Amino acid sequence: MPIAPPDRPDRRLFLHAGGAAAVVSLLGQGCAHGATDASLPSFPSLAASLDDAVRVPAGYDWQLLYPWGAPTGVAGRMPAFAPDASNSADDQAVQAGMHHDGMHFFPLGASSDHGLLVMNHEYTDEQLLHTAGVSGATAWTAEKVRKSQHAMGVSVIEVRRTAQGWQQVLPSRFARRIHAATPMRIAGPAAGTSRMRTAADPAGERVLGTFANCAMGVTPWGTYLTCEENFHGYFGGPKEAARAATPAQQRYGTVPGSQWVEYWRHDERFDLTRHPNEAHRFGWVVEIDPFDPQSVPVKRTALGRKRQESATCTLTRDGRLAVYMGDDERFEYIYKFVSRRRVQPGQDAAARAANRDLLDDGTLYVARYDEGGRGRWLPLVHGQDGLDAAAGFADAADVLIHARLAGDLVGGTKMDRPEWIAVHPQSGEVYVTLTNNSQRGDPGKPAADPANPRANNLFGGILRWREDGGDAGATAFAWDHYVLAGDTALPQAGARYPEGPAGEKADLFGSPDGLHFDSAGLLWIQTDMSGQTIGKPPYTALGNNQLLCANPATGRIRRFLTGPKGCEITGCVLTPDRRTLFVNVQHPGETRDDGSAAPNSAWPDGKAVGSARPRSATVVVRRRDGGIVGT
Ligand code: FEO
Ligand code: CA
Ligand code: CA
Ligand code: CA
Repeated sequence: MPIAPPDRPDRRLFLHAGGAAAVVSLLGQGCAHGATDASLPSFPSLAASLDDAVRVPAGYDWQLLYPWGAPTGVAGRMPAFAPDASNSADDQAVQAGMHHDGMHFFPLGASSDHGLLVMNHEYTDEQLLHTAGVSGATAWTAEKVRKSQHAMGVSVIEVRRTAQGWQQVLPSRFARRIHAATPMRIAGPAAGTSRMRTAADPAGERVLGTFANCAMGVTPWGTYLTCEENFHGYFGGPKEAARAATPAQQRYGTVPGSQWVEYWRHDERFDLTRHPNEAHRFGWVVEIDPFDPQSVPVKRTALGRKRQESATCTLTRDGRLAVYMGDDERFEYIYKFVSRRRVQPGQDAAARAANRDLLDDGTLYVARYDEGGRGRWLPLVHGQDGLDAAAGFADAADVLIHARLAGDLVGGTKMDRPEWIAVHPQSGEVYVTLTNNSQRGDPGKPAADPANPRANNLFGGILRWREDGGDAGATAFAWDHYVLAGDTALPQAGARYPEGPAGEKADLFGSPDGLHFDSAGLLWIQTDMSGQTIGKPPYTALGNNQLLCANPATGRIRRFLTGPKGCEITGCVLTPDRRTLFVNVQHPGETRDDGSAAPNSAWPDGKAVGSARPRSATVVVRRRDGGIVGT
């Protein structure tokens, strides 16, 4: 039985639906302390840290919620986490996955104290996942493959704030793990076409699972969009077969011999030499209804196939849906999908039914950033601008399945690894993190350009644009750089931050990745500097990865949270009342110091490095006095 969705719409998504009047009224209702308040953010800035610990500013507390291995809450199936990693593959299918990434809080009813927390589990660390790890290709077993597949995907957990802090509701009728073996449907123009058909699915309309789930999006009708990013690493085959890889396979990285894990030896659908079309069924945005545990997730092919990072939704001036997406690899593109039909407002059963196929019909665009701060959205439409059979695109499905090749042909701008995209809730300005690109300007690689101005871009930055007419449906925009990240004390870094009020200097960071606007227009920036570089020149002064809060209206950028060693900070989301902040600590201990086999973190369970397996986890941050986070 479908469960009634919440009655409270996500206000951010409706700001532009009714034009200026709606914006004014919403500002009046909910944003008395909005970002136009020059004092925000007003918490005391936190120092950079290299400790194996989570730190938050004075006046705030954090608590642990839902680390890897915690029971998801499926009734009758709640195996406890085994610290020696001896949980079975079946256990893992009903426990928190590894490496939490994108996340959203869906209120139940109108409450900011009770809701569903939905999050991605991006990838697996096989050395931590199995008691004895895996060493060498032959150490893989079918059971290890299954456990690994169950450790990615999505969690839906029910959470509630109590006198003892936030807790999972256990068991919960909503609790659900979606993973690499969960049946799902393929929809949109590529569904059922020849490149999507496999031996196991001759119709090309059904697929098992989702994995490599990185950033996310939320639709106005209350569904969750999970994004399949580094799917290529899970497909493989004998390396002798690499020579036969097509240009498209090379471009997407689905080349035998280059796999990260050895699934193909025990699960033949991951063998590119036997089932080459299976890889076409990954790299999509997947829509999940978190309120109905029986619902079948749907892969939305109209949005294009890429190493999908985010799928950020907003409304066009005439009420259609715009979805902004990044493709996170060096020299890849930024995309926008605009639906053909208008969104039926609301989250009731009628609205959800009316919008159930909305993501299957529309236009996909790729971004071109021109000199002079102007840019264009270039449509990827079969039969237009050379996207035809002569260029290798037999039909519309070909354009979507090989969106990267279509982007090449129409002349998109090759970016410095686009990660998350966030839309300012009042102005509609769009912000994207470009995390870094150490190959920019290398021989044979694209040179610096106006939008990606630094060769050997070690620190990344944040670029933003304003669609013409303030309309997300526009095909042209104005852009600028909000931040060129890095250490300003190192002139060669080329860092540039906005100046805060009264000349206040920004807190420094590198490799921005996660990005979230709260409803007041404060921008929460999360970083993912590589574990190999943290604490070493030229990154030393930037400390461990962290969460910062920025106010684009004033230029202020302050560090709010610092993570343990080797982790990435990601998935930040605030409750609608802005009194609780959820954020993910991903892959603590990712780095093996000095080539040793031991991870360099024991967070959150151990005190000394080596005393416990580090675990990715969601943490909750609140002000001690229960006030609004960030103020
Ligand atoms: Fe999974 Fe591009 O971060
Ligand atoms: Ca990311
Ligand atoms: Ca990243
Ligand atoms: Ca990372």
